[in-house]
Amino acid sequence: MIKYESQRVAYPYFVIALLLFGLQVIMGLWLAINYAFTLPQSLVDVFPFATARAFHTNLLVLWMLLGFMGGTYYMVPEESESELYSTKLAYLQLVILVGTGVAALIGFLFGWTQGRPLLEIPFELDLLVVLGALIFLFNIAMTLIKAKNWTMIQGTLLGGLTFLALLYLFGIPFYKNLSIDWYYWWWVIHLWVEGAWELITGAIMAWILMRITGVPRKTVEKWLYVEIGLFLFTGIVGTGHHYYWIGAPRYWLWFGGIFSALEPLPIAFMVWDTLRHVKERRVEIKNKAVLTLAIGSVIYHFIGAGVWGFIHTLPQINYYTHGSQITVSHGHLAFFGAYALLIITIFYYAFPNLKGYSNYKQTLANWAFWITSSTMMIIGLVFGVAGVLQTYLERIMGLGYMNAQAQMQFWFKIAIFTGVFFLAGVIMWIYDLLNLKPAESES
Ligand code: HEM
Ligand code: HEM
Ligand SMILES: [Fe+2]
Repeated sequence: MIKYESQRVAYPYFVIALLLFGLQVIMGLWLAINYAFTLPQSLVDVFPFATARAFHTNLLVLWMLLGFMGGTYYMVPEESESELYSTKLAYLQLVILVGTGVAALIGFLFGWTQGRPLLEIPFELDLLVVLGALIFLFNIAMTLIKAKNWTMIQGTLLGGLTFLALLYLFGIPFYKNLSIDWYYWWWVIHLWVEGAWELITGAIMAWILMRITGVPRKTVEKWLYVEIGLFLFTGIVGTGHHYYWIGAPRYWLWFGGIFSALEPLPIAFMVWDTLRHVKERRVEIKNKAVLTLAIGSVIYHFIGAGVWGFIHTLPQINYYTHGSQITVSHGHLAFFGAYALLIITIFYYAFPNLKGYSNYKQTLANWAFWITSSTMMIIGLVFGVAGVLQTYLERIMGLGYMNAQAQMQFWFKIAIFTGVFFLAGVIMWIYDLLNLKPAESES
């Protein structure tokens, strides 16, 4: 049950995000096929690996941003106890962002790209993204200012979203000196996932836990301060773990190594905090699927970002693993655990309410969670094995790039096989969310 009519604007954001998620995973499978088999040149000429990769990663960023924005539109009215400032602006923003996304994908097919991984969309489209982001921030800020009902959770959320939008600006200019270009590229990539997005995650997770467990606001907010402080402290200087080999000053080897090695701490803290809330719960939890997803997300977040990040963050190790499939392994486990599962958690919290059920059939939700979580773990491990092989062959034995690739193909075949089951799990989520049915007792 929703309390404010304007919360409904979240729904189209969620539905589009879900569909783009499905498309992203299909592109991932296609990428793995590119690695595992030698494709006919005529096919590669029209749809090269680089284009498919840009589809896979840009779809990822787009669906996650839509998920966060929809989640914010859903949360803010309840949290501030007032309707959104403008639902029209929220729809306009959605049209601008999705339109930009579609234009970007079509553009990639024709080589209209800046070529920088993840931030390849051309300058003109960047301006539209900025316009969409400004409308969003304006709409949320006006809602909060009008409501005059500030809370720690809202503050953190708005802070994270503003930080996210500001950082994007640093990735827009192209610097002719490549070291400088990469230097700022990381301000977007690293400071997004290890800074701004962590703040947003902290706020959303705290809010959902408070809602489903009935733990008092004070308890939730007290720890949020500590968590956020730690995230910023380790995450900002931790950017240095990307400055080891790009021509930045040597002191980054020390700063990057030490501070990024501390990054697992706030994440571990988040796990502990979540489990404590669950133990202290004051109400019976009906929506168990949300609880499973929330706990699953924080633990997976710890493994993918914390443990897998730590593995290759020290310069002594990163010297060998940099830019290999070990990085890809970490990228998948971290993004899936920290952000994909978080956004699905928001969906399973919001969808039943948006559809007006207090309880719903949760069988498919649970199956999809276990299938996707376990198959992604296998995919991550398989990329990891390919990465160890690659590191050894290329950087210790000194084999050429393509010779090393030939030895890795077997592992990509396993990734394809497992990926099909992962895709099935994602389709289950999409189908289930779009066709949610009330539980027997209600129907
Ligand atoms: C949820 C949080 C995180 C996400 C989503 C994430 C994701 C990623 C991705 C996608 C890359 C590859 C970027 C590229 O080169 O294209 C990457 C690189 C890296 N990440 Fe993370 N990461 C997270 C947290 C962490 C943490 C906490 C650590 C350290 C403890 C870490 C350490 C690293 C390192 C060292 C690299 C560079 C690897 C290389 O040199 O090739 N990450 N991360
Ligand atoms: C069937 C499932 C999937 C398969 C087979 C797959 C496969 C791949 C492959 C082969 C690459 C290219 C790596 C390279 O350039 O060497 C890639 C990149 C990437 N994928 Fe996936 N993917 C899948 C699902 C996902 C999901 C669910 C996410 C996030 C939640 C994700 C996030 C990423 C990211 C962040 C990169 C860039 C990594 C980097 O730069 O290090 N993928 N994927
Ligand atoms: Fe990083």
